[in-house]
This record gives sequence, C-alpha cells and structure tokens, in this order.
Amino acid sequence: MNVLRKAGGMGIRSLLFYTKNKCMAALNSNEPCMTCLFGHYGGHFPVKKVLLVGGAGYIGSVLAHELLERGYAVRVLDRMYFGDQGLADIKDRVEIVVGDLRDMPPTSLDNVEAVINIAGLSNDPTAEYNPAANYEMNTTASVALAKHCLEKGIRRYIYASSCSIYDFGVVDQQRDVLVDETAKVNPKAAYSSSKYAAEKELLPLASEKFCVTALRKGTVFGFSPRMRYDLVVNTFVKDAISKGFISLHYGGEMWRPMVDIRDAARAYIALLQAEQEAVNGQVFNLVNGNYRISELALRVRETLREAGIQVEVRPDYSYKGVRNYRVSGEKLYKILNFRPQVSIEESVRTMVQEIRKGNCTDFDNPKYYNISWMRFLEEAHKVIQITGSVFNLPESSSLALSA
Ligand SMILES: NC(=O)c1ccc[n+]([C@@H]2O[C@H](COP(=O)([O-])OP(=O)(O)OC[C@H]3O[C@@H](n4cnc5c(N)ncnc54)[C@H](O)[C@@H]3O)[C@@H](O)[C@H]2O)c1
Repeated sequence: MNVLRKAGGMGIRSLLFYTKNKCMAALNSNEPCMTCLFGHYGGHFPVKKVLLVGGAGYIGSVLAHELLERGYAVRVLDRMYFGDQGLADIKDRVEIVVGDLRDMPPTSLDNVEAVINIAGLSNDPTAEYNPAANYEMNTTASVALAKHCLEKGIRRYIYASSCSIYDFGVVDQQRDVLVDETAKVNPKAAYSSSKYAAEKELLPLASEKFCVTALRKGTVFGFSPRMRYDLVVNTFVKDAISKGFISLHYGGEMWRPMVDIRDAARAYIALLQAEQEAVNGQVFNLVNGNYRISELALRVRETLREAGIQVEVRPDYSYKGVRNYRVSGEKLYKILNFRPQVSIEESVRTMVQEIRKGNCTDFDNPKYYNISWMRFLEEAHKVIQITGSVFNLPESSSLALSA
C-alpha cells in the first residue's frame, strides 16, 4: 500500500498531514484517495450519482453542468415549469425525469448516493400567489424527500435555503447589522418561513448515517441557460439594455447579500464533497458580499458604461415592499475554506457577452420572470381546459376536415 511505503520515511505527524492533504485532493476531484489508510473517497463515502431535484431551473442548470464537469453522473427530477432549455446542451448526458417533488416516481432515488434539492417555489411573489402549494413544495415535500433518502440509505441531502430568512425590513435601523448562522430569526413571509420550517425539520434528521445540510444563499446573479431577469442584478442589466435606465425601489437604501450563480453551483459541490463531520446537521450562508441596492446599481452602471452601454439610475420611492438584511458568509470559509470568487462586475460582463451573442434577448418573455410565467401558465391552463388545443378541432367535434 502506498501509504505504508510512505510511512517508513515519515513521522506520525507528517504522515497524518500527508494523508489529510491527499484526502483534500480527493475531495476536490471526487476521486478515491488511494493513499489514505481508510480508502476515503470525496466526502469520505463515494458519491457517483447525484439526484438534482429542480435541476432544470436557473441555478440547477448551471449546477448540472458543473457536476458533469467534475465527473458525477446526474439525474434531474424537475416539473419543467420553465422547460428544459437550461439543459439543452447536456440532454444526452443527464438523465431527465419529469415529475413533481410532491409525488416523486419511486425509482427516482434508485442508484443515487446524494440528493440536492433546489426545487420548489423560489421567490416571494410566487410563494404569496399560492402559499399552500409553496408550503407543500418548500417544506412538506422537501422533508418527506429527506426521509425517503434515509429509508433508501442515501447518505447525503442538501437543501436549498435562503438568506431571506434573515430579512428584518427597512424600518428597524437598530437591527441593521451583519448576522451569521447563529442569529435569531423569525421569518414572516410565506417564502422565507417555508424555508425556515423545512430547515427546522430537516436538520434533526442528521445522524452518522445521514448527512443533512442547508445552504442559505444570498440573492443570486449571473447568466444561466435558464435565465431569470427577476433577480436584482439581472433585472438591472436587462433594464439598462432594454430601457436605458435602472429604477431603484425605495431609493435602493436596503442591504442585500449577493452571490454569483457559478459560485452558488460550486458551493453545492463543496458541500457534497465535504467531510460529513464538518457539515452534518448544519446551516451555511453563501454570500460574496453585502451591498446596498443603490451601490449595486452604480456598479452595474459603471460596468455597462465600460462595455459601451450608457444607463441612467432613477430612484423610486413609490414602492415599499422591500427586503433588507446583511449576512456573513464566513462560516463556509472557516469550515470548508470556500470563498465565492466571481464579482458583480465580472458576472455583469459575462451577462452582456451572452446577451450580445443573442442569448435570452426576448426580455419581455414572461418565462424569465417566475411570477409572470406561473400566472400565465395558470391562466392558460384554465382556458385550455375549456377550449382544448387552440388550433386543433375539439375532440368531441363532428366536423370532418375537407382536404
Ligand atoms: N435564485 C436565487 O437568488 C435564490 C436565492 C436563495 C435561494 N434560492 C433557492 O434555490 C433554489 C433554486 O432557485 P432558482 O433560482 O434556480 O429557481 P427556479 O425557479 O429557476 O428553479 C426551480 C426549479 O425547480 C422546478 N420545480 C419547482 N417546483 C417543483 C416541484 N414541485 N417538483 C419538481 N420540480 C419543481 C422548476 O421547474 C424549476 O426548474 C430554490 O429552492 C430557491 O428557493 C434561490
């Protein structure tokens, strides 16, 4: 054995150091650690196949690409609310199961070693639109899925939570401080309280046999093949390009923790590969920086100006429904040595490049705005139940088509 050969020339301290470093290399590559006494794999148990629930979404599509790049097999289970555009170029390399988190096909957990659950309703307006469905997806079904994993002997479950759990609104300046995972929270909105309720049921399921982690992401920005223009930085870029100005709700006074989409994908992989003892039963924030919305707008404006796009920034105090919170991402760094890398400026430049290539330029298409799209689908569903397909004859029709 490699390690025994090495042991001859090393003291016990340097041997342990050597072994740990080799293990860290294995963690990063998902390769088995051939030099380790215990035959460790990344995460200290082998993960070869990952079930990505919600893997066709904004973050899911980027994460699916990143997982494939690192050699994981990927099964996506998704209701496909936004179609499969996000997976278009990897369709032949991922297994796609069209289904609902609340009613998963029994075989969807077969042969997977880890589940990342990034499905469900993913913002305030959609959660408010149907709070009952929101709770079913983001809490009840997300907890039930973890319990199924436990029954099936699947050892790792990562839940997509949100920093909006920390929201305290713009009224209370005494509470306008940086908070970490230990902060007392009391979310009120349908979306954030459903995320928190799920965390509270999920984390106690953690045991030696089952590693459960919740990742509270800040607001994500950046380009995805399943694009969203209803997230603040993305909205700014879209408004700047399509209208020539950016509107600052509430004057842009509120704070937001922010993170790029590729960093979000890499954080999920870091959690997937982390040693179980380091992350089990824990919550992690994922934040690259906290910004006032007004600063975000200025950063976007300057980056666009360098790209030859002139933009005006307009404060708007008519809109009051704003979130406000500042969050620390230090725990992820201290425990996993993970730091987000992609700045707002870099992410905006990538977005502009993609848009200039002609990607996702139909800015008015409701599919880029979760609430508009879901409302549209619901209305279409009601109409189509009555009319059937728009251009085909109704099935009951006695009319014969003449040639
Ligand atoms: N985007 C952000 O800024 C952000 C920030 C914090 C947390 N989150 C969380 O991260 C996750 C992913 O967010 P996103 O921005 O990619 O959202 P998204 O809406 O683009 O993607 C969600 C995906 O899940 C699928 N889905 C929804 N309900 C489902 C169900 N019942 N069964 C199966 N599939 C279902 C949708 O079809 C979609 O493909 C969500 O849980 C969201 O709450 C997102």
